[in-house]
Amino acid sequence: MINLSVNIKSENKSYPISIENQSISTMREKIFSFLNGKNFLVVISEKVEKLYGKELGFEKSQKFILKDGEKEKNFKNYKKILEKALKLKLTRQDAIIAIGGGVVGDLAGFAASTYMRGISYIQVPTTLLACVDSSVGGKTAIDTSFGKNLVGTFYQPDIVFINPNFLKTLDERQFKSGMGEVIKYSFIEKSCKCDEELNLTNFLSDNVQKILEREEKTLAKLIEICIKLKISVVEKDEKESNLRKILNLGHTYGHAVEKITNYKKYTHGEAVVEGLRFAFNLAVKKNLIDKNYKYFADDVIKKFKFCEIPKFDLPKMIKLMQMDKKSTSKYIIFILPKDYSVVEEFSFLPEEILL
Ligand code: GLY
Repeated sequence: MINLSVNIKSENKSYPISIENQSISTMREKIFSFLNGKNFLVVISEKVEKLYGKELGFEKSQKFILKDGEKEKNFKNYKKILEKALKLKLTRQDAIIAIGGGVVGDLAGFAASTYMRGISYIQVPTTLLACVDSSVGGKTAIDTSFGKNLVGTFYQPDIVFINPNFLKTLDERQFKSGMGEVIKYSFIEKSCKCDEELNLTNFLSDNVQKILEREEKTLAKLIEICIKLKISVVEKDEKESNLRKILNLGHTYGHAVEKITNYKKYTHGEAVVEGLRFAFNLAVKKNLIDKNYKYFADDVIKKFKFCEIPKFDLPKMIKLMQMDKKSTSKYIIFILPKDYSVVEEFSFLPEEILL
């Protein structure tokens, strides 16, 4: 078992993260022991409910089952969750438990952050992407017709239970989606300013096969490394004023890929991988890195066999990138590689990207 903790000094809040391969029933006992008699509402992904609902053993009346897909992270479901919490008479002393991927975590977290001005929430991530990224750090959100994650809060969970056993049943594309974020971490590692030298790049190249085969211990170690990097960043900059922006490597172009395909064709991680390719190409064009580093990055990506994404019309993509919430009215903001595992923020005028 690996026990980590996140300390948010500005809020005087600290919370544990446990990474443990364990049976669902053991994990359930730990959740109950953490709840310590609190009343609760479980927000659970439909897929996870089908696969693990019986073993998890929550009563129907205590559950809000969320269909899968980004489009479910909407106002309607947010309202339904709040109404269900009200119906269950949850008080400020009670809790919401999010069991699922990033969509469930973001939506349930947002509901928890606003219900009675904020109640406890517990993250139980069941996808690789949620285990390595979205379950830690307190970003909560819902999507609107104007774009993804445009309404949300920074609101930290009270505990995160990561059980890599859930990943055994994750479908291949969702697994690869998580790997997109993992690879991103390898390209930002030194900029994360973690006290420990974790060397994710070496870990990835030494363990390609074991990772693709989802070998339990390897996945637990992989998650531990990514979470340690994320903790290091979030502890230094919870609200994304500076350092946390580096987590957006690959996301400026990646979000445009998701948008131009209506969030239907590619998973978030697949789009991020395309965004990484774009970022490395742009960094070469701008003389930030030499071509060898770009070839090295291409090689790392190739090892994990991501799908091919076609080149979209660049002027159209630029328009979409200008709408990214990190961009300003004039400049498009990118996190770009500067050296091996080192990144920095850059702003470009649209015409400077077309060059
Ligand atoms: N997923 C990026 C962040 O948590 O800041």
